[in-house]
Amino acid sequence: MSLRTTLRISQVHRFVGRFAYASRMLFTRPAARAAITQRGTQSAVRDLVAADDALPRPYDRDGALRFPFSPGAYDAGVRYLFDFAVLANSLGQRPGAVMLDFASGPGYVSEFLNRFGFTTVALDNDRTMLGLARERLGLDPRCDAGRSSFTTGDGMHLPFRDASIDGIVCMNALHHMPDYRTVLAEMFRVLKPAGRALFSEPGSEHSLSPQSINAVREFGGLERDVVLNDIHRLARDIGFGRMVLKPYVYPEIVELPCDELDRFRVGKRVSTPNAAPWEIADFVERCHPIFYLEKRGSQPATSATSSPNLLRAQITIGACPARVAADDALRIAATCHNIGRSTWLAEPRALGGHVTLGVKILRDDGRLVDASRGRAALPRDVPPGDSIELVTEVPLAGLTPASYCLVVDMVDELICWFEIVGSQVARHDFEIVARTAPPAQHT
Ligand SMILES: C[S@@+](CC[C@H](N)C(=O)[O-])C[C@H]1O[C@@H](n2cnc3c(N)ncnc32)[C@H](O)[C@@H]1O
Repeated sequence: MSLRTTLRISQVHRFVGRFAYASRMLFTRPAARAAITQRGTQSAVRDLVAADDALPRPYDRDGALRFPFSPGAYDAGVRYLFDFAVLANSLGQRPGAVMLDFASGPGYVSEFLNRFGFTTVALDNDRTMLGLARERLGLDPRCDAGRSSFTTGDGMHLPFRDASIDGIVCMNALHHMPDYRTVLAEMFRVLKPAGRALFSEPGSEHSLSPQSINAVREFGGLERDVVLNDIHRLARDIGFGRMVLKPYVYPEIVELPCDELDRFRVGKRVSTPNAAPWEIADFVERCHPIFYLEKRGSQPATSATSSPNLLRAQITIGACPARVAADDALRIAATCHNIGRSTWLAEPRALGGHVTLGVKILRDDGRLVDASRGRAALPRDVPPGDSIELVTEVPLAGLTPASYCLVVDMVDELICWFEIVGSQVARHDFEIVARTAPPAQHT
């Protein structure tokens, strides 16, 4: 084995050790769970975190490339997936946005975001880990290399232009940074207005846990506390508009018997620990905060960038025949008024988010027959409050003579039909009639 390879492997092990130690915050052993259930207090949770002395299992390259989906990473892996889901739900961005995977490690955040359609920029100061992240995305044909990049760099001095990044995901990394003010100020600088930096970190007692003490002794580096009030103060000083907590505990430490639901609903005592507000607050503060910092400002709301819930249309269709011959086409003229809060984008986009007029053909019992015919593009963007006239031909070839209903709606392509998010559609009932055969010619 060459010196280079040996070095590479030992670096990976060094990283993975740190990584695994961080995941030791995650108290998973059956004995630990049983103790939580019996003692039922938040202090039991904290004790168990501290008492979990299982040694980290070093990852090999294969394990790092597979994380969090490898048998050896099951306990930590499912928690990381939970954390990722909470953060991914809070990005305030939609596919197509540029996301920084801050201190990416082996790059699973980049992989997942890339597969969702985001453009990902992975940054780490460990070349070896970043190499694995690059390799990971390259190995997976479901990732788009054209939307991913990898930068070796220091989180304290981000090598990116001011206001060039839509969002930042920082999982399990802030607590390794020597100076929170510098890091948060750098994040603030590179974020666009209204951009968010999202964090999933250990809490205010992290540095005192046996795992952290071991990690520092054996691997060096920093294992710092993340104190929410301190972060809040720093964020305000730096200029962030708000800091928002996502107050969740890990799912496996809350189990509510169904017959206690009514007690739970009205805030009465129930048998599960970690479900009362003070217990959740304690967990979030001391054990595992998930939060985001949001820069002030706003971005234009469009069909590609904002929540589909902002989409609303008022559609009126003009005169339309009630009987059509089989194999003919229905011509629809529609006035489409944007009564929502997003601009409908006209230009087709590979990742979707542009708006078209769509038509569904239903049988008279309401069953869908076809939703692909008669799609019409917008000739221009349509801002909120504006209207547009659209005309489309709906071919009826292949439909048997019967009664049908035509449903006319707007479509945020690859995202949703507007009806799904509460918009009204226009309807037209019609009948397809068999063509009568021409009279026979007699000579
Ligand atoms: C515990 S890992 C987390 C990796 C990944 N975000 C995850 O959740 O799996 C911490 C990462 O931070 C990186 N790191 C530590 N200090 C850094 C710094 N100053 N700048 C950039 N990356 C750093 C390490 O190399 C490591 O990959």
